[in-house]
Amino acid sequence: MQNFEFCVPTRIIFGRGKEETIGEVLKNDGIKKVLMVYGSHSIKKNGLYKKVTKSLKESGIAFAEYSGIKSNPRVSDVDKAAELARNEDVDAILGVGGGSVMDSVKGISAASKCNCNVWDFYTQKAEINDAFPIYNIVTLAATASEMNSGFVLTNEETSEKLGNGSPLLYPKVSILNPELTFTVPKDYTAYGAVDIIAHVLEGYLTRTSGPDLMNMYIESIIKTVIKTTEIILINPEDYDARAEFMWSATLALNGSAKTGMDGISFPNHMVEHGISAISDIAHGAGLSIVIPAWMKWYKSKNEDQFKRFAKEIFGKDTIDDGIKSLEDWFRSIESPVRLIDAGITDETLPDITLKSHKQALKWGIDKEYSAEAISEILQFAK
Ligand code: NZQ
Ligand code: ZN
Repeated sequence: MQNFEFCVPTRIIFGRGKEETIGEVLKNDGIKKVLMVYGSHSIKKNGLYKKVTKSLKESGIAFAEYSGIKSNPRVSDVDKAAELARNEDVDAILGVGGGSVMDSVKGISAASKCNCNVWDFYTQKAEINDAFPIYNIVTLAATASEMNSGFVLTNEETSEKLGNGSPLLYPKVSILNPELTFTVPKDYTAYGAVDIIAHVLEGYLTRTSGPDLMNMYIESIIKTVIKTTEIILINPEDYDARAEFMWSATLALNGSAKTGMDGISFPNHMVEHGISAISDIAHGAGLSIVIPAWMKWYKSKNEDQFKRFAKEIFGKDTIDDGIKSLEDWFRSIESPVRLIDAGITDETLPDITLKSHKQALKWGIDKEYSAEAISEILQFAK
């Protein structure tokens, strides 16, 4: 067991109807005005917008709004929203949405305080030294952005999608009501499942040492996600399945699943960021293409963990059968498993390699993941 520190200062409020307490939560924290940030249509269509604004009004919380955050969120939206936050003189940012909204909120919170463009944090022109408090109402379970300090943005001018983060960007409060995810369409439910599995699998398959507790913790998360996804895809309004799925998503990337382990890295995310930078594919869909390819490329480097995965998750005796079972499961939930399934053709591979390698450099894993290595991984995805 390696030494570690674990501190997540986010208060989670979980359960039915809890979004209606948002006004009260903000009032109790002394917040007077928020910038409410959301996506395109879903929260107006399913009635959540009305509930949230009613709660804010009843508690006397003033609010400004920024809508239209896209999946694979753009820096231009974050910059515009940060300017709005400054002009409106808000004292907190409230995200109502999935990972794209919650990631944008982190960028908005930091950029509006520093009076700079959010991309300046990526080019080292500016540092994250201050941030507005962040509140979330989560509508899609996948990223754990509600309980971590990272955010991923796409720079549409340079076609780069890169991760960033700061301990100042842990949300203060995140409200999770599984009922709010009943309306998530089947495709995004499937992509969410892939993303959750990816978050724990990265550490599980790259670890070089660590407690068995973490192996079992991660296996529980993966098994829970497989089981609940199959239920939800048939019955989207199964509360208990949605609830276990949602909490699994949070636990998978709030830092708890990495405790005491050595050798953790995020190569699948690295390659996926390269793919979605140039193709705008949904994050989970990109991951279900990368994961089987990366597993085939990497399997001989950590055979014990790959064998364990095959046995514990799918009851298989060989590494190859374990990989095949995962790939078949991705197929069964209709998430793509080959580049061509997502319309990504050979001529884009050099650019994907370049963009992925940039992420490798940023994450300090460029020695193991040279451009040549990334290109080899992509060959397995054809
Ligand atoms: O824009 P609206 O109309 O709200 O529609 C959204 C969007 O089209 C829709 N949706 C969300 N909640 C819904 C709903 N539709 C119906 N009912 C609901 N309750 O779903 C679509 C996808 O939403 P999005 O927020 O893009 O999905 P997700 O939560 O998967 O977030 C993906 C983003 O998070 C980043 C990804 O790279 C990607 O940009 N990630 C963030 C991480 C982090 N901060 O730790 C880690 C992840 O690995 C990931 O990289
Ligand atoms: Zn992810």
